[in-house]
Amino acid sequence: MKDGYWLVGFQYEFTGTLYSLGQIPRCKNAQLKHLKPGDKVLVAGVGHGTEAIEASRLGADVTAVDLSATMLKHFRKRIEKERLPRPITVIHDDIFNIRDTGKYDMVISNFFLNVFNKTRVVEVANHLGTLVRPGGYFVCGEFVLPEPAGWRSHVQRLNWYVAISIYSSTTEAVFHPVWNYPALVAGSGCPIEEIEYFKLFGVNLYWSIRGRKPE
Ligand SMILES: C[S@@+](CC[C@H](N)C(=O)[O-])C[C@H]1O[C@@H](n2cnc3c(N)ncnc32)[C@H](O)[C@@H]1O
Repeated sequence: MKDGYWLVGFQYEFTGTLYSLGQIPRCKNAQLKHLKPGDKVLVAGVGHGTEAIEASRLGADVTAVDLSATMLKHFRKRIEKERLPRPITVIHDDIFNIRDTGKYDMVISNFFLNVFNKTRVVEVANHLGTLVRPGGYFVCGEFVLPEPAGWRSHVQRLNWYVAISIYSSTTEAVFHPVWNYPALVAGSGCPIEEIEYFKLFGVNLYWSIRGRKPE
């Protein structure tokens, strides 16, 4: 199976944490407060699995999917170090092969939609939306859509373009502008209930978007 992160996957979590001075991991965990013990959670493109491990600690029944053997090797190492209340189901596969329609209380896509091109990102978001049960959540942590003008807009663009320049030249991620993630979540059938922002130096750089599928 293709491993788009074989070269840089080992450092992914550490560098993201450092680059954002801890805001990326905070963003990843932000919506877990809406989980109840026993809730079924799917983490798409789990990487090293920060939020998957935290959701499991909170008592959720977690399934995690990723295409990259390198990412999953590091995720499994982290799982081994934890004493989690129940095992996490780890699936090494393409997210499109997960076809549990309407099964999950929460589907999490953190820094996952940003690897896809303009057409594919819509297909992936819509597919994730199908996996959410009626009344369940679609959670998406991402880089914010830059403001239309002003100095903050420049900082937001710089923050994204530095990251995507590095990752589009070292991984399978595609170089592109920031996608409109709230529109993608809402467009998948999960209207937005809440957006939480994560700032550095007074500028919103990341957001955790929570959509909810109508009952
Ligand atoms: C940018 S990384 C984000 C990893 C993690 N969610 C995080 O926030 O640190 C994107 C992840 O999605 C995985 N991925 C890319 N395309 C995928 C697909 N079609 N199905 C499953 N995983 C995929 C990659 O292997 C990678 O681990």
